[in-house]
Amino acid sequence: MRRVLTTLAAAGLAAGALTACGGDSSGGGESRAAKIAVILPDSASSNRWETADRRYLEAAFKAAGVAYDIQNAQGDKNAFQTIADQQITNGATVLMIVNLDSGTGKAVLDKAKNQGVATIDYDRLTLGGSAEYYVSFDNVQVGKLQGEGLQKCLTDLKAEKPVVAELHGSPTDNNATLFKEGYESVLNPLYANGTYVKGPQEPVPAWNNTTASTIFEQMLTQTGNKIDGVLAANDGLGNAVITTLKKNGLNGKVPVTGQDADVQALQNILAGDQCMTVYKAVKQEADAAAELAIALSKAERKSVPGRVTDPESGRDVPSVLLTPKTIFFDSVKDVVADGYVTKAALCTEAYQAKCAEAGVS
Ligand code: BGC
Repeated sequence: MRRVLTTLAAAGLAAGALTACGGDSSGGGESRAAKIAVILPDSASSNRWETADRRYLEAAFKAAGVAYDIQNAQGDKNAFQTIADQQITNGATVLMIVNLDSGTGKAVLDKAKNQGVATIDYDRLTLGGSAEYYVSFDNVQVGKLQGEGLQKCLTDLKAEKPVVAELHGSPTDNNATLFKEGYESVLNPLYANGTYVKGPQEPVPAWNNTTASTIFEQMLTQTGNKIDGVLAANDGLGNAVITTLKKNGLNGKVPVTGQDADVQALQNILAGDQCMTVYKAVKQEADAAAELAIALSKAERKSVPGRVTDPESGRDVPSVLLTPKTIFFDSVKDVVADGYVTKAALCTEAYQAKCAEAGVS
């Protein structure tokens, strides 16, 4: 205890700086300098970052007894760099980031590296970056599952030459590029052979859900409401589309996709307003990244099975890529069984009957 107090006194200035930047979780004990630092991107583009990633990363670091500090840049690129600087000043030896774009992400990674801090790209690859590891899902496969999911729902509805609209993710998120590659590998051949009609398509900057509503309203206006299916790149965008469809009395008639298996999306699926989502077991992703980070913090290197080639630099980045899973009405229960969402959160009064019908227990 005495030693801890001495350390605290010595680190007084640095600890103060951390509090001043609004440190929202100095885990591993306030008195110790953070050793593993994490920067999450925001809490608006998807619920996952605060409700899943933070929780699972914290659990992994706590179980290993390592000091950590998890911050959220709330979509602010300047804050992102400031947070990284402060975390390093406060003793981080490993930095794990979910970049807001490759340019600013690269600056953060390179600066950390120059200061002898090991880095990990978490979920999003920083193009041209210098991270030692990349931990994510097979994101082209995520997109492929979305395309195939939409195709199944349109087939179930016996849609004839359906007009399909696409809402892509943020143009500055490499994952959005990969998701698009995946779903267009399914949809483009169907447009080309006349099975589907290519409708309006647009990227949604910063995955902003409010912008997505505006974009989709314009798409409806522009087509005179003739949109029969929507490939929305994540659940937040999907929900923005569904809210707009509801205003126009079209929900349930137009299948909409998503990803992240958040509570709202699962409820939309139960209600019949959303066709599918993609469940990414964030616990696996957080556990894999935490394991690598913990090893790096002890100056150990773990070998990982995969390699991803950075398309910008041509560098082969040692990678862990996990497998995503499609969720339709009948498999909503799997997400609950996996502990990702609770039955209490999902099966609120309005959804109890649907939960029973879908076998959620
Ligand atoms: C993640 C998605 C998330 C999106 C918006 C992507 O990089 O892979 O899970 O929905 O960012 O935050």
